[in-house]
Amino acid sequence: MNSNKRILVTGGAGYIGSHLVQLLCDQGYQVFVFDNFSLGLRENIDPRSEVIKGDILNTVDLEKAFAKNIDAVFHFAAWKAVGESMIDPGKYAVNNIYGTINLLNAMLKNGVNNFIFSSSAAVYGSPQYLPIDEKHPVNPENYYGYTKLAIEENLKWYSKLTDIKYAALRYFNATGYDINGKIKGKEKNPANLSPIVMETAAGIRDKMQVYGNDYKTADGTCIRDYIHVNDLASAHVLAMKYIIEKEENLLVNLGTGIGHSVLEVIGKAEEVTGKIISYDITERRPGDPPELVASCDLAKKLLNWEAQYSDLETIFKTMSDVYMKSVNSPPKSPSL
Ligand code: UFG
Repeated sequence: MNSNKRILVTGGAGYIGSHLVQLLCDQGYQVFVFDNFSLGLRENIDPRSEVIKGDILNTVDLEKAFAKNIDAVFHFAAWKAVGESMIDPGKYAVNNIYGTINLLNAMLKNGVNNFIFSSSAAVYGSPQYLPIDEKHPVNPENYYGYTKLAIEENLKWYSKLTDIKYAALRYFNATGYDINGKIKGKEKNPANLSPIVMETAAGIRDKMQVYGNDYKTADGTCIRDYIHVNDLASAHVLAMKYIIEKEENLLVNLGTGIGHSVLEVIGKAEEVTGKIISYDITERRPGDPPELVASCDLAKKLLNWEAQYSDLETIFKTMSDVYMKSVNSPPKSPSL
C-alpha cells in the first residue's frame, strides 16, 4: 500500500495513540495528530507528525483536520476509566458516543471512508466461556464498555448506509511502553494495574491495593490478558491495510491468549525493577470478572498478526525505562 497516505489520529497524544503515531511515521505515512490535550502529552508526539489542537466535539476543529485531505482515521480520543464511567456516565456519553458520531459525520462530509476504532474487551462483560472469541455474546457491565458497543453498532449501520469501512479492534489489557524508548511521558492519573504497579515501584506511591484475593483463580487474584502497546500499534496498521485493500469491515480481539494474575504481575515487576512493591489486599472492585483471556485466532488468520512484545518481562522492562529512570534510591525494605 502507498505509505504516502495521509492519516488522522484522534487522541494521538495519548497512551496508545502516541505509539501508533510513531509507527506510522516510521513507515512513511503522513500523520496528523488531533488532540485536545486534556490528558495527551505533547512530549509523546513524534516530531515527524503535524499537530492539530482540537476537539472531536467541535465541528470547526474537525473541518480543519479534514482540510488535510485525509485517507484514513484512527480514533483513540475517548475517556477510558471504567470506574468513572459508572459515576459520571454523561461525560462518557458525550465524548465517547456523541464525539465519535460527530467524527464519523465529518468523515462523511469530507468523503473519508476508512475508520479504525479503539474498541474494548469491555463489550463482552463477564465471560460465559474462555478464551473469549469474537462470537462471544456482548453484554457490557460498565458504561464505558457500553459506549464502545454503541459505536460498534453505529459502525454497522454507517457502513451499510454509506461508503464507510471500519475496523473495530477489541483490546484486552493494554500495557508496556515503547520498545525503542522514544515515548517517555507517563500517563496522568492512571487507573490501570501496570502503571499503578510501576508508580509504586518508583516510590511515586507508598503502596497499592490489590482488589480481592478470594476469586476462584490459582492465587485468588484476577487474571487478565496483557497486550503490549507496540503490539497494539502494529495490529492497527495491519487493520487499516486490511479494510482498504479488501474493502471489508473487520472486527477482531487483540490480546495474547495468555492470562496473568494480579500477584503474578506484581511479582514480575518486582523482579524486573529490583524494588519491593508494597500492597494491601482490599475488597473486590465492583464489576471485575475473575478472568478475561482473549482468543486471538481471528486476528492471526485475517491480519497475520501475533503479539511479539507482550511477555511480562518485556512489558516491565519497557515500563521501567520510563518509570524508574529518576529512581536512584536503594530498594525499599518490605512492609510488614
Ligand atoms: N487492579 C488492582 N489494583 C489496582 C488496579 C487494578 O488489583 O490498583 C486489578 C483489577 O481489579 C483487575 C486487574 O488489576 O483485576 C486489571 O485491572 P485494570 O484496571 O488494569 O484493567 P481492567 O481489566 O479492569 O480493564 C481494562 C481497561 C478497560 C478495558 C478492559 C478490557 O481499563 O479499558 O481492560 O479487558 F475495557
